[in-house]
Amino acid sequence: MSFHVLFFGALAGGWRTWCTWQHLAGLKDSNDCDPNPCVHNGNCTDGINSFTCTCPEGYEGRFCEKNINDCNRMTRKGGNVYLSKHLCANGGTCIDKVNDYECYCAPGFTGKDCGRNIEDCTEYSCLNGGTCKDGINSFSCHCPAGYTGRICEINSDDCLPNPCENNGTCIDGVNSYSCVCLSGYAGANCETTYRDCAEIYKNWTQTSGVYYITPQGAPKAILVYCDMTTAGGGWTVFQRRVDGAVTFYRNWTEYQHGFGNIDGDYWLGNDNIHMLTSQGHYILRVDLSDWEGNSVWAQYNNFTVEDEEHKYRLHLGAYSGSAGDALTNARPVYSNHNNMYFSTYDQNNDKATRQWNCAKRWQSGWWYNNCYDAHLNGVYHHSCSYKEWDGIIWLQWKDKLSLRTVSLKMRPADFQN
Ligand SMILES: *[C@@H]1O[C@H](CO)[C@@H](O)[C@H](O)[C@H]1NC(C)=O
Ligand SMILES: *[C@@H]1O[C@H](CO)[C@@H](O)[C@H](O)[C@H]1NC(C)=O
Ligand SMILES: *[C@@H]1O[C@H](CO)[C@@H](O)[C@H](O)[C@H]1NC(C)=O
Ligand SMILES: *[C@@H]1O[C@H](CO)[C@@H](O)[C@H](O)[C@H]1NC(C)=O
Ligand SMILES: *[C@@H]1O[C@H](CO)[C@@H](O)[C@H](O)[C@H]1NC(C)=O
Repeated sequence: MSFHVLFFGALAGGWRTWCTWQHLAGLKDSNDCDPNPCVHNGNCTDGINSFTCTCPEGYEGRFCEKNINDCNRMTRKGGNVYLSKHLCANGGTCIDKVNDYECYCAPGFTGKDCGRNIEDCTEYSCLNGGTCKDGINSFSCHCPAGYTGRICEINSDDCLPNPCENNGTCIDGVNSYSCVCLSGYAGANCETTYRDCAEIYKNWTQTSGVYYITPQGAPKAILVYCDMTTAGGGWTVFQRRVDGAVTFYRNWTEYQHGFGNIDGDYWLGNDNIHMLTSQGHYILRVDLSDWEGNSVWAQYNNFTVEDEEHKYRLHLGAYSGSAGDALTNARPVYSNHNNMYFSTYDQNNDKATRQWNCAKRWQSGWWYNNCYDAHLNGVYHHSCSYKEWDGIIWLQWKDKLSLRTVSLKMRPADFQN
């Protein structure tokens, strides 16, 4: 019966209609792969009233219509499933592609999976010879000595902390500095001082004036007047009388440490005089002037003054000069000053044969014998005709006439200007 229906149907509707009928009736298995239901070039395998798509890599789904999310790729290990750790490392962002992914890397990283730290160093990264060290999207510079700053662009301040001693002023250089020292200080760091005026003359200045010196053994620098003109200069002045503004009637301690005005009348101090003459072979020079403007001088070599323990004993060598020798070739019994101890009114070390204290009697501190021929620390008399024993006296020149100016100074015997 059905055959007849089909048969006549076919006659009436033509071949095509017959086929459709055949199909509908399930009489013939049609090709379910025609047309190809698989997209994305999936290969279709015909089944019985069904098909299977074989998807190209990156696609899945019944029709291969689904683009697999490659950013969530799983890896299997044992029974567990892990999200692939390799995808877009270091904070990179994954963008899915067809059977692929692309990583947009965080700054500083590169590579397919952002696994590579970008080399941030270029030859221009660090200035002034600094060494570049790569970081993550950054670099750091190891600067050579003398430079600092992110890219070694800053010349470091070599003056911090101030390397100049004794309040010297530091001038910054490139990995260096220089010190401008205060008066009297010397050396790269102003750490040294001049030992006497002769050294100042040779190393620094030939101008007379007040300068700092530090004799060997002195605890600190002392101010002194340097006579840079008399007889070639280089003289360390340790006693000066110019206007009588300062009394020289002083006790032992005052003579020991010194007193007066460094730019006027002063005594440098027996300790300082001792330390100065201990530095080598010094000569003593005495400059004298009277009220009429006449001046003379006396010089002695081998000048030394011993320390306090030895009562600042005076030693003098050969005399030369125009003043006459009042210190070593004085009236021998009474008043040769060579080898005498220092005396003050409160510490009497004189050789007076009479019952008196020379220092007290003549109001001075001095290397008294019995008592003196030279009395250069005597009382200053503002008079052109004063002739008593307490005055400033150099017997061998003006007898007892009290003098107007006096200075005692020393310099190394080998000094050459
Ligand atoms: C589909 O078949 C062609 C031809 O055989 C083959 O080259 C291709 O790789 C196949 N594609 C898939 C996704 O299997
Ligand atoms: C340096 O300066 C300080 C402070 O002003 C001062 O006390 C000190 O005496 C100075 N030192 C010298 C060597 O001038
Ligand atoms: C002065 O110069 C001499 C010779 O150059 C040197 O030995 C000495 O150290 C210098 N003194 C000072 C205080 O700079
Ligand atoms: C020395 O004189 C000074 C100043 O007048 C004084 O202060 C000191 O006490 C005196 N020393 C002695 C030992 O008399
Ligand atoms: C004194 O100085 C002279 C050089 O002027 C030297 O020949 C002599 O040895 C010195 N005498 C003493 C005791 O130092």
